[in-house]
Amino acid sequence: MARRKFLLLIAVLSVALVALVGSIWATLSGGRLTEVVDAVRIGGDFELTDHTGRRVTAADYKGRLQLVYFGYTFCPDVCITELTRVTEALDALGPATGQQVGGLFVSVDPARDTVEVLRDYQSHFHPAITMLTGSDAEIAQIAANYRVYYRRVSPDPDYLVDHSSFIFLLDRDGRYQTHFGPGDSVDKIVATVRTLLAGGGA
Ligand code: NI
Repeated sequence: MARRKFLLLIAVLSVALVALVGSIWATLSGGRLTEVVDAVRIGGDFELTDHTGRRVTAADYKGRLQLVYFGYTFCPDVCITELTRVTEALDALGPATGQQVGGLFVSVDPARDTVEVLRDYQSHFHPAITMLTGSDAEIAQIAANYRVYYRRVSPDPDYLVDHSSFIFLLDRDGRYQTHFGPGDSVDKIVATVRTLLAGGGA
């Protein structure tokens, strides 16, 4: 009987241990801690050239929230769609746009996205969106900092570039808050920005 009680105790403890490990795992993988780790790891300083030809760093954009998107001007569809969504969000934010919130577009195709090409492309979108390009190394660095994937898919002159498609939201200190995917509505982006502007978390 003592042995049977002992085995029962072991069984109960095992179930409790599995439940404990499971809840810790759920917290680590899906909970607040993951967001904190992301916030530490995504983003950071950069040095690039804007669509007016000026050399800029992350510090130039501090003091206002930023919606950041990575893409390229020759992109046949996705980039236009996403930059149009950023434009719509900035339009919807009205008077806050410009002083309190703006957009950054970072080219993942710096070979073709020269300052002149970006300046022309910029004219199709919201004036509060700044377009950025740089050397291959500078673009590789900022893409790595944002965990953005990009890859030229063919050798021909009219090549396409595969790239991840997220709109990142930075706070006034240039710190990552959250990001939006293609499934997130413009309304959701606007509501999240408004919450952050009002002093709440994203
Ligand atoms: Ni694209």
